[in-house]
Amino acid sequence: MNKRLIAYVNGTFLPLDDASIHIEDRGFQFADGVYEVIACLGGNFLDIKPHLQRLESSCQAIRIPLPCSLSELGSLVQQTYEKNPFTNAMAYIQVTRGVAPRSHQVSESMTPSLIITVRDLPMPSDEKLAEGASAITLKDFRWGRCDIKSIALLASVMGKQEAAANCVDEAFWLDSEGHLLEGCSTNVFALIEGRLITHPLGHHILGGIMRKMVIRVAEKAAVKVEQRPWKLSESGLTECMMSSTTNALLPVCRIDGEPVGRGNPGPVAGKLRAMIIDELEVLRGR
Ligand code: PDD
Repeated sequence: MNKRLIAYVNGTFLPLDDASIHIEDRGFQFADGVYEVIACLGGNFLDIKPHLQRLESSCQAIRIPLPCSLSELGSLVQQTYEKNPFTNAMAYIQVTRGVAPRSHQVSESMTPSLIITVRDLPMPSDEKLAEGASAITLKDFRWGRCDIKSIALLASVMGKQEAAANCVDEAFWLDSEGHLLEGCSTNVFALIEGRLITHPLGHHILGGIMRKMVIRVAEKAAVKVEQRPWKLSESGLTECMMSSTTNALLPVCRIDGEPVGRGNPGPVAGKLRAMIIDELEVLRGR
């Protein structure tokens, strides 16, 4: 298979190794930009519309004009996918405010930069699915607009470093009262007294596209869903799980070194994951 990867940069498709951005791009100087990650299975993008709409909202929130219409963007993402050698892939889209001499001041006349890259979509191993994922908790030290999918990911990088140093998969952010908000790159759910609980939308979490799918699938499976602040110390907590575009839904069986419930993947996480994978298989075969 031809492993030469192709990227899209500001109107041009070119080999990834030759793709570059000006050093005065504000994405580089200020992390002044936003991004999306979209999964593609067998050539079909999963929930591309809500991902593109979320990119549009992120752009609006920081007042960057979208460089093209959402349908043109969708077509560029599709074209970038087709120029690369993967069946199952993740497309990364990044929009920054563009190139300008470094100054905090924003000028309305800047032309946004748009890049699109495509990479192989790694699937969780059978061992990981059998044993479940693990996490640590950290006090949230991110900014106050986590609903914007900003490219300023330093706190997430530090959280993941801390997770790796503790030999676990993810770090979960806790607010000042100990409520579990979300992970560095995942939304988090708990099964408490048989109900699926997740932190409500707002400025403190990213409104995950997979989060929405998990909620929809849970309701289909007649599992009651509550979007409310919750704590790991709540009695009746039997399962925990985390969702993202790249991993669908994974059971989380150890948090801060302690087993969650019985310490192995629970039945509700298993059922919801199976329902999601069924939907993804339909998409893959479509
Ligand atoms: N991250 N919360 C955070 C902080 C995230 O960064 C992500 C996704 C999610 C899950 O969102 P979604 O279901 O739309 O993927 C929640 C992506 C995958 C990333 O940064 O690579």
